[in-house]
Amino acid sequence: MTRILGIETSCDETSAAVIEGAGDDVRLESLVILSQDVHRVFGGVVPEIASRQHLTAIVPVVTRALEDAGAAAGSIDAIAVTNGPGLVGALLVGVSFAKAYAFAQGIPFLGVHHMEGHLFATALEHRDAVPPFVGLLVSGGHTMLVDVPAWGEYHLLGRTRDDAAGEAFDKVAKLLGLPYPGGPHVERLAKTGDPARFRFSRPMLRRDQGPADQEYYDLSFSGLKTAVLNAVRAGTPDDAPHIARAFHDAIVDTLVEKTARAVQRQGRARVVLGGGVAGNRTLVAAMRARMERLGAEVYAPSNRLATDNAAMIARAGLFHFERGERSPLDLNAFASLPLPGLATAP
Ligand code: KG4
Ligand code: ZN
Repeated sequence: MTRILGIETSCDETSAAVIEGAGDDVRLESLVILSQDVHRVFGGVVPEIASRQHLTAIVPVVTRALEDAGAAAGSIDAIAVTNGPGLVGALLVGVSFAKAYAFAQGIPFLGVHHMEGHLFATALEHRDAVPPFVGLLVSGGHTMLVDVPAWGEYHLLGRTRDDAAGEAFDKVAKLLGLPYPGGPHVERLAKTGDPARFRFSRPMLRRDQGPADQEYYDLSFSGLKTAVLNAVRAGTPDDAPHIARAFHDAIVDTLVEKTARAVQRQGRARVVLGGGVAGNRTLVAAMRARMERLGAEVYAPSNRLATDNAAMIARAGLFHFERGERSPLDLNAFASLPLPGLATAP
């Protein structure tokens, strides 16, 4: 049994968690997530403010996570911390804290890739959300479709050519006059819209696409955002729910269809969703309905584990710790960072 303290400060959540376990048998002992509400007044994350807020929050957040877990300082075996991708100033707060804590306790520490954390999040809640599976990662900064034959082996099938899925939700929310972060607001408004009033074409989705075609799996959301912008300009404020609905339908359709292609071609019976947009219940329901016809099970994280949190970082960290990996104390933080184990699909 290994007990890991996880730390996540890549964007606007200061989070710490304690997990304990071995292999895929892992128990979440505590999870503290402090969301930085201040960014709401700016309509987006202000990096310098995010760093400063992490700085004031990190010690109490970690202390609270250790207390909630009933974990005495000496009982932690290793620390896992997000070291990229993300806002460098924000990441550095977590990385520096983790190094200092590891050094003081005389325990190892590991840098974890934020998106690999998102892939592991659902496994904390569902025993079967483990490889082999097709993973769809939909967050505010990244969107990718990966085949996962085993933990640590990620075959990239497709990715967004421009905006991330969450970014598209946030930008469309802004166009519709909704608060930041926009995803949940757009989802709520879309539910009240009439699906027949507007229709936006599904980006990068055509029937004649074949697996050899790079657009078969790739995604694109900036055209959809422009379509929304044009509809908002041409319409009246009363159209907002209908525009939100048309946008929501288009984005969900595209994500579901590309994932269905991956499930069929890779012959997988499981789909694991990760990232903030995976907290979208409409997307999850549509994904379940489609995958049921293909005989595949869909695993989605609860809202708490869909958005940025340290539990998923600890969980991914445990996997690397068990493989004997350790990070040096001069580990840096990176705005962009390749996913470890990522290869183009064979
Ligand atoms: O994974 P995450 O917490 O942070 C990043 O790593 O980027 O994802 C945040 C993103 C935001 O863009 C937010 O609008 C979106 O996830 N999001 C949603 C929903 N909840 C959060 N998007 C659509 N529907 C939701 N219910
Ligand atoms: Zn994230």
